[in-house]
Amino acid sequence: MNKVARGYPGLTRIVFSEEEIAARVRELAREIDAFYPAEDELLVIGLLKGAFMFVSDLVRAINRPSLQVDFLTAALYGDGSDASGEVELLHDPDARIEDRHVLLVEDIVDSGKTLNRVGDVLGGKSPRSLEVCAFLHKHIADGLRYEPRWVGFDAPSDWLVGYGLDLGERYRHLPFVGAIAPEDERGT
Ligand code: IMP
Ligand code: MG
Repeated sequence: MNKVARGYPGLTRIVFSEEEIAARVRELAREIDAFYPAEDELLVIGLLKGAFMFVSDLVRAINRPSLQVDFLTAALYGDGSDASGEVELLHDPDARIEDRHVLLVEDIVDSGKTLNRVGDVLGGKSPRSLEVCAFLHKHIADGLRYEPRWVGFDAPSDWLVGYGLDLGERYRHLPFVGAIAPEDERGT
């Protein structure tokens, strides 16, 4: 087991280190900034809770005077690593969406259900543009209607935790991304 992962039950290895993440976030911020006309305002909408850390790092690295941040909460029914049901929107963004450049920021695209649902809701509010930035992408989603324009990292199929991602609400605070052992191998 990786030295850093020791002491965290179920964590088998570090997948993306704090340093790798920081470097990639800076690259993404540069690409995003270059994509939008300098004089246009950007509305960044983060998906809670998983994207909270990514959003906070990303917006600090985007160098433009005109940017707003909002959040919405979407939850897949089910908890832990077996969430497979319907997507519920628990909190709508407060910000006006109409005629604005909306950048939806996701923690991880897995089945793609969350992104499809939230994309439909935001897209239905007539934004000027709607793009998606996902920190991680497992590339297993079927029928994804809102393919992220920016992806931090292609992710392995393991259950991942840290940098906002949780396992039953634990491990969100880790500054790196780690992989959790399959349930029958966790020994906890
Ligand atoms: P999707 O709707 O199946 O794409 O899943 C989206 C949500 O499920 C993400 O925003 C995460 O909150 C959660 N999720 C999916 N895969 C993982 C994972 O590997 N670790 C932690 N959370 C995950
Ligand atoms: Mg979650």
